[in-house]
Amino acid sequence: MTDIQKQIEQLRRELHRHNHLYYSKAKPQISDQAYDRLLAQLAELEQAHPEFHSPTSPTARVGGEPIEGFVTVDHAVPMLSISNTYDQKELQAWHQRVLGGLELPTVDLFGQAEITYLAEPKIDGIAISLRYEQGKLVQALTRGDGQRGDDITAAAKTIRSIPLELISPSEGLPEILEVRGEVYMPNEEFDRINQQRQAMELDLFANPRNAAAGTLKLKNPKKVAQRQLKCFAHGLGLVKPNPYLCYADYLAAIKNMGLPVNEHVKPCKSIDEAWAFIESFEKIRVTLSYATDGVVVKVDDFAFQKMLGTTAKSPRWCIAYKYPAEQAKTTLTDITWQVGKGGSVTPVAELEPVFVAGTTVKRATLHNMDEIQRKDIRIGDRVIIEKAGEIIPQVVEVILAERADDSKATEAITACPSCQGPLHREEDEAAIRCGNPQCPAQICERLIWFAGRGQMNIDGLGDKVVRQLVDAGLLRTFGDIYTLHEHTESILKLERFAQTKLDNLLAGIEQSKQRGLAHVLAALGIRHVGSKAALLIARQYGNIEALAQATQEELANFEIDGRKSGIGNRIAQSLFEFLHDPTSGQRIIAQLQAQEVNLTEAMPAVADENLLLANKTVVITGSFENWDRHTLTEKLQALGAKVTSSVSKNTDLVVTGANPGSKLAKAQKLNLEIWDEPTFNSKLS
Ligand code: IVH
Repeated sequence: MTDIQKQIEQLRRELHRHNHLYYSKAKPQISDQAYDRLLAQLAELEQAHPEFHSPTSPTARVGGEPIEGFVTVDHAVPMLSISNTYDQKELQAWHQRVLGGLELPTVDLFGQAEITYLAEPKIDGIAISLRYEQGKLVQALTRGDGQRGDDITAAAKTIRSIPLELISPSEGLPEILEVRGEVYMPNEEFDRINQQRQAMELDLFANPRNAAAGTLKLKNPKKVAQRQLKCFAHGLGLVKPNPYLCYADYLAAIKNMGLPVNEHVKPCKSIDEAWAFIESFEKIRVTLSYATDGVVVKVDDFAFQKMLGTTAKSPRWCIAYKYPAEQAKTTLTDITWQVGKGGSVTPVAELEPVFVAGTTVKRATLHNMDEIQRKDIRIGDRVIIEKAGEIIPQVVEVILAERADDSKATEAITACPSCQGPLHREEDEAAIRCGNPQCPAQICERLIWFAGRGQMNIDGLGDKVVRQLVDAGLLRTFGDIYTLHEHTESILKLERFAQTKLDNLLAGIEQSKQRGLAHVLAALGIRHVGSKAALLIARQYGNIEALAQATQEELANFEIDGRKSGIGNRIAQSLFEFLHDPTSGQRIIAQLQAQEVNLTEAMPAVADENLLLANKTVVITGSFENWDRHTLTEKLQALGAKVTSSVSKNTDLVVTGANPGSKLAKAQKLNLEIWDEPTFNSKLS
């Protein structure tokens, strides 16, 4: 080993150690400045000597290069959810089911059932799975649909409470250790970011959880690094070998390895003790620097967990008790009316700002006029509002004792607040509607919806920018979005519109052309046609021409794998009418076609049989000279492969780099096809 290499490795060890002291032991030995100096020293050496690069170097904390998109990867062990309870009785009932499932007596000699639970805070964040191989962090995945998640390794590496390398205890580290946990944004950081966003007139995050989710989805890890996300470990996926007999032992062990374990975890000898913890933690949780929404109670013994097993959705060995929504008193200063993309006009309570459940609430939905009348809500009233973690704030009731003598009942609105046109109420509907498709508010809302996440997902075209462009007369129809590049001069004259912002907007618009038919259908805001229906329809018909040929009956009755699609008449009629209306659907489609927006849908099930790795299951192991895991996974998937994380007899191919570990040995034992890095490179070309 050269002197330089020794120096680099020593610095890395030092920095890992200080990180551990700071984040898991809360006992820092050096100042932040001293830490940063060491880090800068290391960065300088690494830059001068790229031959000593390491993916788990502490310098990874500042964030690597931006990525293009997220690769989806299968979980080695599915990430399930937890079933919820809201009171003590339900918790007791669950306890009885646990005892029944384990065939344990409900009481022992001392009148207590012999089972140990662990109760721990339910962190209101984003689930993450961290995979360590030989103690090094090799992959971080989101929960996704539970079976497969997005690879967010680059983002996760910037989170300083997530160790990049584990500290090896005397008994050694498991070869593979998948730690499950929760990434969250501390309340203070959430406030800081929202203040910043407010100053920049960006949309605010609704709560710390959304902010954490939004941050993990950033494609530039350097930006993730600028937001101080944190993490708590609360579970396990694949652990090999697994020497732990119970969850408490596991938690103690990973804590020693440097992983962040919550300090409020409480072993309980009975369900009554667990309930006592739930009651006492209710007072503690409001003082914490992060959001929690309940307590998770888990059977401690791993053998018992195994015996209890799981349902399709959640393990039988754990349950989440959720605290009731938080309430607060405030004054309702006004009732305003909001026009939705389909013309529905809904009342909104404007409130004196009040802090509830981790955020400041200024507005609450009032749903509709019936609700206002039923609760007799009047302007100037003192009201009780309620907000649960992720739910929209609600007005629960008016404090009548505090009502002013001269207050007047709220009157129903008679004209559209945006276009002043007439409003009507459809039979069987609580909502009132503005029937004018040219209503400016509706135009804005439709465009915001079109560009939004889950629809065309146009980066740079959020609600503020849409409103700005509509006000400036540059945007009216969906098609106009795709001709904005012809108006760069006018756009640059708008307030807060510099060249980079414009470039990003135009790049976002260009990219959105390739979302495909399902996204377009969902984005058009056709009544009753949501993203799920849009996807089924797009896959069934493949392109807009075929879809336009379909009769209403066909749309309502087509089958998928011999079963009804579930689309039904209401959706079919609405879609059919849209597609055949020359003044709306047909005109919109023609405009999008003229701008080369992709109106076809790729069929997922039929993989391209001609690809080199079509239908092959591939596992990656070791580290690679020319590839990081993310890019390698992407390349393999582009070749048709399904990339999974553990070797079994169902594996077709193992791609191995340096220091491959046990997967290679297993692959050899199973006589599987193995490619080293040069072989892979030659196959690529
Ligand atoms: S245990 C099988 N423990 O809550 C799932 N989950 O609502 C076992 N969560 O997806 C998870 N705090 O991401 C567990 N202390 C905790 C937790 C926790 C938060 C999350 C977790 C899960 C979600 C379910």
